[in-house]
Amino acid sequence: MRMVGWMNFKEELDQKTVKLEAMLQGYLPAEEGYRAKVASAMNYSVMAGGKRLRPLMMAESAALFTDTGEVWEEVADAEKALPLFMAALEMIHNYSLVHDDLPAMDNDEYRRGRKTTHVVYGEGMAVLAGDGLLNYAFETAVRAFAGAETTEEFRRIAYALKILAGKAGLDGMIGGQCADLEAEELGGNVTGDMLIYIHEHKTAALIQAAMTIGAVLAGASGEEIAALERCAYNIGIAFQIQDDILDVTSSLEVLGKQVGSDEKNHKLTYVAMHGLEESRGQVEKLSEEAIAILSSFPHRNQFLEELVEQLISREK
Ligand code: IPE
Ligand code: IPE
Ligand code: MG
Ligand code: MG
Ligand code: MG
Repeated sequence: MRMVGWMNFKEELDQKTVKLEAMLQGYLPAEEGYRAKVASAMNYSVMAGGKRLRPLMMAESAALFTDTGEVWEEVADAEKALPLFMAALEMIHNYSLVHDDLPAMDNDEYRRGRKTTHVVYGEGMAVLAGDGLLNYAFETAVRAFAGAETTEEFRRIAYALKILAGKAGLDGMIGGQCADLEAEELGGNVTGDMLIYIHEHKTAALIQAAMTIGAVLAGASGEEIAALERCAYNIGIAFQIQDDILDVTSSLEVLGKQVGSDEKNHKLTYVAMHGLEESRGQVEKLSEEAIAILSSFPHRNQFLEELVEQLISREK
């Protein structure tokens, strides 16, 4: 039996994060030729040291469905579908952040404790770096077909691509970012419905992509995939509420991003609508629901459950 104390979790998280950094580094473009500058801006944004939550959750969700509960050997093999999709999703996440920080959107100067991409490379390069990362994500993910050996593997990769494109797209993250901008203009004339739409799409969608793609690649059933999608919905909404709480309660030093960004931009957030107290309660409730779903699978993944539990009290 594995012991799951706090220190064990923290050590395991650190070890896995080191592996994720190495994996990502291996997929990044060379900074050469006449397009060197945009490649450099892309790499600057990806290698700034985020939490790597989405690729981590993809790997850990896949682990729920492998016989051994192990996936990290596969992650180390650069031509396997799982790490290719993990890297692709992290590229899409980073593109969304580069664009999110632009003056035309949230106009933020800091991310992960460093100057944002447009501050360092200029707005034109930041727009291109975001576009570049989005395309590079798919260029990376489609490499998975080259390593597929059976019809079943081809089918899983095609399904994973469909999820990735959809959850990042118009009825996924981009739709959420659209409503997030629209809500700025609406002042008080916003509904709880719109608030949930924003959270579900701008944030939960990519977390759903992470968990369901991991499951699909590992051969989960339709029912299991649907359960993980619901689980990721809860995690995603809780994650964004916590992000909005920290935007009010944290500091640039701890968070790595300038606080007060949401108020500055008149954002519609859970905190603005319901207050800090209720928001904290909601994060807890949603996380517990997510853990209840996870613990209903025949194979338990203690690390993943602990990760979700830990997000409730995250400080960055
Ligand atoms: C920030 O995501 C954007 C949100 C959806 C709230 P993360 O908090 O996962 O950002 P990094 O990658 O760890 O910096
Ligand atoms: C970001 O929401 C969601 C994205 C899709 C990028 P926020 O605008 O609150 O994220 P931060 O606080 O800038 O990371
Ligand atoms: Mg934003
Ligand atoms: Mg922002
Ligand atoms: Mg925020």
